[in-house]
Amino acid sequence: MPAIRHPLPSGTMCTCSFDEREVEAATELLRHPERLFRHRGGEPTNADLFEKEACALTGAAHALMVNSGTSALSCCLAGLGIGPGDDVIVPAYTYIATASAVINVGAIPLLAEVDESLGLDPADVERRITPYTKAVILTHMQGVPGQVDAVRAVAKKHGLYMIEDCCQAIGTRYKGEYCGVHSDAFAWSLNYYKTITCGEGGVAFLADEKAFAKAVCQSDPANLMWKSGLIDENTQPFSKGGYRISELSAAIARVQLQKLEGIMEITRRNKKRLIAALDKPQNYILQVVDDPDGDAGLSFAIIGKTAAQTKAMTAALAEEGLRVGSIYNEGFPDRHIYAYWDSIMDQNSWSKAGYPWKDPAYKGKLSFSRDMCPRTLDILSRCMRIGLNTRFTDENIDEIAEAINTADAAVTAGKY
Ligand SMILES: Cc1ncc(COP(=O)(O)O)c(C=O)c1O
Repeated sequence: MPAIRHPLPSGTMCTCSFDEREVEAATELLRHPERLFRHRGGEPTNADLFEKEACALTGAAHALMVNSGTSALSCCLAGLGIGPGDDVIVPAYTYIATASAVINVGAIPLLAEVDESLGLDPADVERRITPYTKAVILTHMQGVPGQVDAVRAVAKKHGLYMIEDCCQAIGTRYKGEYCGVHSDAFAWSLNYYKTITCGEGGVAFLADEKAFAKAVCQSDPANLMWKSGLIDENTQPFSKGGYRISELSAAIARVQLQKLEGIMEITRRNKKRLIAALDKPQNYILQVVDDPDGDAGLSFAIIGKTAAQTKAMTAALAEEGLRVGSIYNEGFPDRHIYAYWDSIMDQNSWSKAGYPWKDPAYKGKLSFSRDMCPRTLDILSRCMRIGLNTRFTDENIDEIAEAINTADAAVTAGKY
């Protein structure tokens, strides 16, 4: 009898958490179409209120709601004055949007390896810094907090801005506080697949008021017409993208934000229960988590010690009813893995002049290749992960632990 006797719950987080409250928030707004635009003057809009509520919840200084996580990251970068001539270090394992936000502001993304935390390796970040590096973006993949203190120490030592890509990590904490609040900027995505969602949306958080004003300029060519009072006589407003959030999305997002801590309570508890039920691993190690208490509990990952042990574990787990391939398997072109970022690997551009790659303002050397971060590919080729959501019961969790323990013992016994 395989260990997995009950089917594992599938579905995105929103399919778990949406109820009549989201429906009511949206329909209430539709009954008042005159309220559908965020900058209508008068009483605060849903977007205004979401920004306030998100700052109150996280402890962030300034929040700007926009139409996507990619836009939010672009606002963070523009807010910090990053642009042509600069480069920014991003992880080799993150969604392609982290790097494209850098390109979007005219700067060059430089890749750094991830380690067994599946987040940036601080030592490799330090190795990749050039005289043109202005910032490092630490992504917290699948809700697991990266090595914030160690990466921040490198950023501080070299005078770089630190940005946290929390698009997959809304609710993730580090040493008790929401990820991002001690960095120069951080970003959330509210797209369909995220912890809380309104279908599409994003939030840029910035620590500094002047940087926030620039982020606002990045988000709407005429935003300062709506959001007056942000720019003083020393700051020139500029016109950039059109990233306004829809009020309908903001209304839904406000309901979702209220559910965040409740969601975290369940997913954190589930992941702790799973880890506590595991025997001492023989053929794998657990993903290294710098702050397990802050982990959002949305994902559980093990890393096979060798390629052969990974192959054997995968086969043994399948026998137990748990189908988990490795993240990098030369099959599905997962755009979270840099080797599949074709447009970046090939340095494609929207312009004949080849910007930003051929921008004469950039004095660094460019070299992109699909094997440039071998350690990342090696770790991801041995990494087996399971997504968790609030529908997982104790039974599901205990059966996953049983499957892993049984598979590990069988591989050790040479059965695979
Ligand atoms: C790590 C990471 N960064 C950035 C983004 C971009 O967010 P969006 O899809 O809302 O633009 C995502 C979304 O999947 C992501 O996972």
